[in-house]
Amino acid sequence: MARKDGVRRRTAHQNAPREEHTEEDSEEPYHIDKLAISLFILVPLAVTICIGYFYYQNMMQHMITRQSSAPMVITNERASDMGRFWGTYRPGVYFGTKTRSANSPVTGLMWFQQNLPHEPKIRHWCEQGDKLSKYGWLKHNGNDYGVQELYDGNIKLTTEYVKRLGGKNGGDWSARITATNNANEPLPSKVSLMYYFVTDGPSNVVPNIRKSQHLRSLEGEDSELGSYKMSFSAEGSDLAYSHMISYTPGFEHIETVLKYGLEIKRNKGDYVGLKGRLVPMDSPGPNMYVYQVTGHLPLTLEVVFESGSVSDRPESLQGAALEAELAKKNREFDTKFEEIFKLKEKGYSAEKISFAQAAMSNMLGGIGFFFGSSKVQSRYNEKPIDSWDAALFTAVPSRSFFPRGFLWDEGFHNMLIKEWDETLSMEIIGHWMDLMNSDGAKVPDEFVVQRDENANPPTFFLPLESIIESLIRENSTSSKEYLQHLYPRLRTWYNWYNKTQAGQLPTTYRWKGRNPDAVKEINPKTLTSGLDDYPRASHPTSVERHLDLSERRESLCLDVMQSYMISQVMASIARSLNEEWQSYQLTYEALSDNSLLNDLHWSEPQRRYADYGLHTDSTKLKRPPPPQHLQPGQPVPHRDLERVVTKSPTEKLVTSYYGYVSLFPLLTQILEPASDQLRHILNQMKDEKLLWTPFGLRSLSKSSPLYQKHNTEHDPPYWRGAVWMNINYMAVRALYHYSLTAGPHQQLAASLHRELRDNLINNVEKEYRRTGFIWEQYDDRTGEGKGCHPFTGWSALVTVMMADKY
Ligand SMILES: *[C@@H]1O[C@H](CO)[C@@H](O)[C@H](O)[C@H]1NC(C)=O
Ligand SMILES: *[C@@H]1O[C@H](CO)[C@@H](O)[C@H](O)[C@H]1NC(C)=O
Repeated sequence: MARKDGVRRRTAHQNAPREEHTEEDSEEPYHIDKLAISLFILVPLAVTICIGYFYYQNMMQHMITRQSSAPMVITNERASDMGRFWGTYRPGVYFGTKTRSANSPVTGLMWFQQNLPHEPKIRHWCEQGDKLSKYGWLKHNGNDYGVQELYDGNIKLTTEYVKRLGGKNGGDWSARITATNNANEPLPSKVSLMYYFVTDGPSNVVPNIRKSQHLRSLEGEDSELGSYKMSFSAEGSDLAYSHMISYTPGFEHIETVLKYGLEIKRNKGDYVGLKGRLVPMDSPGPNMYVYQVTGHLPLTLEVVFESGSVSDRPESLQGAALEAELAKKNREFDTKFEEIFKLKEKGYSAEKISFAQAAMSNMLGGIGFFFGSSKVQSRYNEKPIDSWDAALFTAVPSRSFFPRGFLWDEGFHNMLIKEWDETLSMEIIGHWMDLMNSDGAKVPDEFVVQRDENANPPTFFLPLESIIESLIRENSTSSKEYLQHLYPRLRTWYNWYNKTQAGQLPTTYRWKGRNPDAVKEINPKTLTSGLDDYPRASHPTSVERHLDLSERRESLCLDVMQSYMISQVMASIARSLNEEWQSYQLTYEALSDNSLLNDLHWSEPQRRYADYGLHTDSTKLKRPPPPQHLQPGQPVPHRDLERVVTKSPTEKLVTSYYGYVSLFPLLTQILEPASDQLRHILNQMKDEKLLWTPFGLRSLSKSSPLYQKHNTEHDPPYWRGAVWMNINYMAVRALYHYSLTAGPHQQLAASLHRELRDNLINNVEKEYRRTGFIWEQYDDRTGEGKGCHPFTGWSALVTVMMADKY
């Protein structure tokens, strides 16, 4: 999504290891003149960007009117639910709020340590380069309460958020930011806390400024928020106040604009503070308001937002009243957490429980609301295809590295979110489903494949299985409506998969998009599978069949839904039922037929399931010889390593690789409980030469030819050994299932379930205590967190594993 909420653009590559974002470590003296000059550069630039931006907006506005006629899962009623209007829906910043509206203003926190003569290091976006030793939500209920801690050198910040509904415009909320000293020695210098309020487009805000440059509050009014007031108050010693009123052409420029408004103040000791009013002459008028307080620690800032339509407010959410409300929400959170997950009852220590709370809270606190046009673009099509303006309400894998939605991840996220709040999952899934549909006039049929994310495994079926069941049980008007709107979209999605990813033989499937001509890759990647570089058949061809794509339960989901629809005689979908409506059930039966599966994918000599394809193990990367006719003195050009095949491939089961893919029939729980194949898989599970480690199951066995090997000269191994939490979660969940299902392997499944689960929980917690973060993946040799951090997408599934709630 090309988002308005100025998150830095990143390549839309889901699983690529990324370069670390390094901030220029500027220890340069701080030049005020440089800033003043820059303002003259900034203003014309800003105006240009602004014109472009509004033009773009209008264009998108036009397109939206041409959008789909299919009913949206997120109906107007749901979209305008004032209960979820305001929230901490900006996962990419350390702390901020906005509404679930296309035109939402944004609010947010920045801070820095006064450190003249050096340029201040402003903290704002979650950046790994800021090197915070730890940050994240300790508690967050996904709606109206959250508390977060951030450790920045010897400053410790706590951000607390609470919302109170009332009136017609989403009610009131307050934020309290407390900065204290995190070291034994007090800080020699002061700290500045800044809080901004920025509207989208021209604003109607009146700042209330007392003498000596002291901004107390902002009062404004617009059609969505009604009238409102946002007040600031601070406590601390030796405080100095400053502020800025300015104009930003877009949310992504807030920080840049703010930097131009800083100067050295000569009162209360020298410090860097905001200049006051700084509105370019040719801008449409101010839309950015920043409050700044500077003082010695401890320092507290309260931001109080009050909606004018709340008429029966008992008291403002500030001071003692805010304290009391936060304490109450805190207790409610603990109570609900225990009710759902029962970790105390299960005997977990207080430490483990707080860890589990933090893991879940970071997932919930990472939920964002994004609005913009989804450029339908990927590495499979050359040019981006425009689509309509759309809203997306979604959790994110990582607040620093991937602060946006990813379809594959989101199915896993909702295995946790639905346990905490099923309606929240329904909102999220509904938004995603609405994204993928259109009237077809504007967006081509291939829409789904042309979004990177959508070509990933349809994991939404995982949480949907139980959500659909519970909606059917509920059988209320609103649950019926939800299912009725969801069904046609889910069906389209399913049918698209079933058709486009079909293999040559019946009931076989193949990930499309592998490149047979990728000469630099020792094994051409399978990006669509989500397991990027997990090795497959060495020579991609159409005879391939992929074990992990034979997702064998989705048709069950649709079959259950469909039967319900028919029993309810839902007229509006009757039309779509004219076709053979038994096809889902039949497909499910075929795909869960163990003997068919064994014919297609089981190797009896190796006792393992495998992909099938044109394959040889005899490949290696070699440096091609330099060109023959070099001029004397001409430098030898660098040539990347290229793949050399030393033995011809043959069509066969690709059994030399044993790893996550081999486990899929277990993971999807389609193996019959008495199956011999199940016995073999379980018996092999604890083999440390294969997948078992004290930290969870590794992605590729040690005995596999490409274990921990680069795929190209420049691509380090990614899914070639590391321990990943999403697949481990599926393994623990499947073992739990078999431990509860009568059969000859029940005992074995039960003991493996306990041991694997505890290994995973203990290692993720150990690393969290050691490093301050939950990680993208874990090293299979040391257990150390790797990849990006914080990664509280699917790695946060430890919470449901602790509770054994699947
Ligand atoms: C759901 O409710 C309707 C009445 O609104 C009833 O006719 C139907 O039998 C119920 N279905 C189930 C599955 O309980
Ligand atoms: C899925 O595709 C196969 C053909 O590849 C077809 O036989 C089957 O009916 C399809 N299933 C559904 C539910 O459409």
